[in-house]
Order: sequence, then structure tokens, then C-alpha cells
Amino acid sequence: MTVHLSLLCLLSLAPLSVIAEKITHDYCIVGAGPAGLQLGFFLNRDGHDYVIFEKSDVAGSFFAKYPRHRQLISINKRFTGRYNKEFNLRHDWNSLMSDDDDLLFGKYSEEYFPDADDYLKYLADYQRKLGINVKFNTEVSNISQSQQKGCKFEMQDQHENNYCCKRVLVIANGISDPIVSHGVGHDLIEGYESMSVNPKEFDGQSVLIFGRGNSALETAKSLYGHAAYLNLAARSRLRFSWDTHYVGDIRGINNEVLDSYHLKSLDGILEGMSIEEVDIVRRTDGKLDLIPNKKSHISLEDMDHNPVRHGYDRILRCIGFQWDKSLFNANTTPALSKTSSGKYPLMGTDYQSLQFPGMYFAGALAHSLDWRKSAGGFIHGFRYTTRALYRMLGWSVHQQPWPIVYLPVEHLMNTFLKRANEASGIYQMFGQLGDFAIYNREMQSFAYLEEFPVSRWNKIFESSGYKFENGKHLLFTMTMEYGANFSKPGNDNFGDTRVQSSLRSAELSNFLHPVFRVFRSVPSKDADITKNTIFNTKPIGLQHLLEDFTTEFSAVRTHIAPLRKFFEFFTELDLRPHLPENCLNLMLTTHVYDAYSSNVRLPVECRNLVETEESIALYS
Ligand SMILES: *[C@@H]1O[C@H](CO)[C@@H](O)[C@H](O)[C@H]1NC(C)=O
Ligand SMILES: *[C@@H]1O[C@H](CO)[C@@H](O)[C@H](O)[C@H]1NC(C)=O
Repeated sequence: MTVHLSLLCLLSLAPLSVIAEKITHDYCIVGAGPAGLQLGFFLNRDGHDYVIFEKSDVAGSFFAKYPRHRQLISINKRFTGRYNKEFNLRHDWNSLMSDDDDLLFGKYSEEYFPDADDYLKYLADYQRKLGINVKFNTEVSNISQSQQKGCKFEMQDQHENNYCCKRVLVIANGISDPIVSHGVGHDLIEGYESMSVNPKEFDGQSVLIFGRGNSALETAKSLYGHAAYLNLAARSRLRFSWDTHYVGDIRGINNEVLDSYHLKSLDGILEGMSIEEVDIVRRTDGKLDLIPNKKSHISLEDMDHNPVRHGYDRILRCIGFQWDKSLFNANTTPALSKTSSGKYPLMGTDYQSLQFPGMYFAGALAHSLDWRKSAGGFIHGFRYTTRALYRMLGWSVHQQPWPIVYLPVEHLMNTFLKRANEASGIYQMFGQLGDFAIYNREMQSFAYLEEFPVSRWNKIFESSGYKFENGKHLLFTMTMEYGANFSKPGNDNFGDTRVQSSLRSAELSNFLHPVFRVFRSVPSKDADITKNTIFNTKPIGLQHLLEDFTTEFSAVRTHIAPLRKFFEFFTELDLRPHLPENCLNLMLTTHVYDAYSSNVRLPVECRNLVETEESIALYS
């Protein structure tokens, strides 16, 4: 009997000893790339218990290899003519946010399109100087939902350490695995990840590059002075970033070869032929032939002018990257979202997995929500979506509300205009992150939330801790937006109708401009992120500020006056600024007792004056 009892005791103790072996953290982040480090900065600054797992021995190891030709395409504009730090971040696409002015990428490179090696140095300094807790050489795997009390997720590393994530798991391992094709003869193709980057090795050769994105064009740019024939092939047409306003599309820096195509200089672009649709065979003369396979919808055989009839000396594959999700246990593997090219994980508007509560995505993976719509797939965009994630976690995990500033209504115009003219987060994450002012009609004051994810409007309380009350509050939002019809491949975006310059056609503005909306009540429906109308409900008021060549929205008649009218209409207040003398005048000529009724129509700027003893005496 005693033997039995002690056995039982041992058995019941067993799970406890397993817990003791696990290394436990509140927050576990997978990947020390720019997003992982950015999130690490916020967690570190606010004293949270977190760890970042990094499989390699450096931060941002993607940049140790990619881009292969080493030139980044994120701009490093060191001079803007302004000293406003917030404004300058609009044109600094590489820096991460911190409190240290030495950790700005402009201090690491003078190049407008910098060298990737400089970015590695930058990330290493960022991690080291800010003391961000990264566990290098730690490749976690078998991430699974935990059955253990107090553990949400668990995982192992290659040294057989076991980890327990108590509260939040953030996957930030990026989109960094090259996409490989597996067709017949595709072993004869050289991939972007392993091809030679010495252009001399291509002297006099005929070269075909599969792909039509920046990695393909970057490769073409390196080779077109060396190859004899240089062709690019892809399924669909080229998309230029100046047509689509999508920084992931072909950038000016990479388009030299397109010029030589149109000037008939032996370089060419083929469409309608993707890498999956061809088999590759080596001819007796050593050249590589393309044979359309069953998946192909083109037939080259009956064409005696078949464009690829000469064959190629070399075929390169530059068709982009995919997410590595091999680190998950089979039961905890996130599904891919169908709406974002099938490359990104499925997630809700709070960047949280819809399948595994407590699992979040940051960085390039969070681009699932704004794929081809905004800049969330790139450092200058995801440094802000990462901050938005951090702020939402602040409320949902620690009951720490979104940072909110409370101001009286007379500051409404200036607060919005200042942000329209300097804010970087809403400028980069256009149409996705917006500034929210929740106006309390009774108090004539507002709560201001910067960079709030607009698709979370219906979940404002769950995301920020701010309780919007229908009837009592009005919501004013400001987002930066391009014209509705201004971002499509093939647009004539240099045509002479591209700019609106008349106040009457402000709503047809094409270039990035502030758009204001008013809402009366919290929508009950979730946002449909597949649509562009991510506010998921019609506003009761809409105001576009006219686009501006200098991107300064501060012209008195063109920007300020229409905006003031808009706010005056919805607040039912006179928002004109007044000097004390004017106020006195106004009060002498305004029906006094209105000031004490609920329908106050006196200038807001005068309210303090009215309430002093002297002014009351003046009227009595
Ligand atoms: C993976 O994790 C599960 C659940 O935590 C565990 O039962 C299993 O033993 C792990 N597998 C490996 C190969 O470590
Ligand atoms: C965009 O194009 C559609 C269809 O041609 C048109 O109805 C709409 O008014 C246009 N919107 C803007 C803002 O130009």
C-alpha cells in the first residue's frame, strides 16, 4: 500500500518537473530581422519578459545573402531640408524606431540606395546598443500549442532546449526562402539563391531570366552589358511602382534593361510564359530549349518565328521568395491566406492567427493584410505595423491602453494638420493606419489616437482600451490615400490629367493626400480586408484635402478653410481662431444667453473669456 502511494506521488509530480526544465518567457519572437528587433525594442524599453530566437549568428541574416547584387532598393534620403525627425522618417525607409538618434541609417550609409552590408552593420548595432535580447544560433522548431497550464506555446531548439511561451508568440521570420520550381529539366536552371553574380561569366551568352519582379530586374541590370541576348519571361505583365504606388513592384533603379528592350537592343520581355509551364531540354549544340508542357496555354511548335527558337546558354530563376513554415508542429501549422497571393499566413486584423489564439505575425508576414495595397511588406511600412501590434498587445495583455492624448476641441484642426504634414506612420502605411480623434460632443474635447489600424475600427475597445459610445461620441479619422483609380499597371500616370489643382475637385486628387471621415457609431461588422473599403462602413462625412505638389497641406484657402468647414459642420461649433479683441467684439454682438444654453454657438476660442467674472459682468 505504501509503495503504491509513493508511486502515485511520483506520477503526479512528473509534469511539474517537466515545467521546471522549460525555459519560460511571456513573449517569444521568432526571427531577429528588422521586425523582430523593432518589436524587441518596444518590449525591452517597457521592461517585458521576452526573447527573440534567431537561427543564424547575426541579426537580419537575410541581408547577409540578399539581395544578391547587394544594392538595397529602400531609399536612404539623408537630406530633406527639414530637421523634424518624424517628417524625415517619411524619406528614410531603412531605419528602425528607437530613442537613439545615432541609430538612424543615414549615419551608416551615404548612398541613396545603400549596400546590404551596411544594413547588416546597422542591425547589429541596433541590437547591441539597445540591448535587445536575441538568442543567436537558436533554431526553434516543432512550435505547438501547449497543453500545459500557464504555457500557450512550446517549442524546442537544435540543442534540445524546451521553451514555453506564456502569453504571446510572434512569428517574424519573414518571406525569405527562395521559391524553387520542379518541372522537367529544371535542374538545368540556376536559381537566384545560388547563381553567379559575376557578370563576366555571362559575357557573350544568351540568357533567359524567369521572373518580372525586382530580383529578376536587378539580375538583368547586372547582366545586360555582358550577355548577348538577355530575355525576361513571366506569366503576367510588368508592374511599375510608379504606376501602382506599390514599392514591391519594379522600381526605377532596376529598369534599365526595359529601355534597351524598347530601343531594340537585343534584350526582350516575354509574357504569358511562367516557369511552371515549360520543360527544359539541352540540345545537341548545348543550348537550353523551352518546351511548353501540359500546364501551358501557348504552343510554340507551329510558330516558325517562335521567340525562344534560338535556345539559351543559361536560364536563371528569379521568381521571388516564400515563407518558411517548417518550424511548426503539424497540428499548429498556420494556414495561408487566400487573398494575399497565397504566400502570407492567414490572420485577423489584429495580426493574430485566426486558428491559434496568442500567435501573432509581424514584419513581412503581416503584409498579409495589406498585400499590394500599402507598404507593410517593407521595413518602412512594417516598423509601424509592428508598433501597432505592440500597442494592441499592450491593451489586450497588460490592460495598458493605446497612448491617447486628450485635448479641447479648439486643437482639433491643428492636431490633424500637424500630423498631415509630418507623420510618417500614416504616410507609409497609407490607407491602413490612420489617426483617430474621438470627439466627445458634450465635453467639446477629443481623444487622439495616432496610427490606429483602420480595419480595427469596429474593435476599437478591444484594440485600444478606448470605449466609443454611440450617440455621445463622433469619430474623425485621417488617412493618407492615393486616388481611387490612380494605382494600376498600365495607367498613364504621367498624363496631363494626373493632378487636380482645383478646390472643387479635391475628391479626385490622385497623389497621396489626407482624407478625413466622420463616423457616428461603431460598425458591427468585421472589416473585409479583401476590399479596399476597409473602414467596413460608410462614413457620415468625407473630406479630401486637395493633393499638393510639395506635399504640404497648409495652404489657408485650399487646405485649412475646407477642413475647418468640415469640422464646424460636424461639431456644430465655430472653430475660427479669435484674438481676445475679436472675442470681445463677437460677444458684444452675439446673443449672450446662448452661451449658457446647450447650443453654444460662440467661438470656441472665446469660451474661457466668457466664463471669467469680468466678461459676465460686462453682459449683466
Ligand atoms: C513536438 O512537440 C510535441 C508537443 O509539444 C511533443 O509531444 C513532441 O514530442 C515534439 N516532437 C519532437 C520531435 O520534439
Ligand atoms: C474611378 O473610376 C470609376 C470607373 O470608371 C468611376 O466611376 C469613379 O468615379 C472613379 N473614381 C475617382 C475617384 O476618380
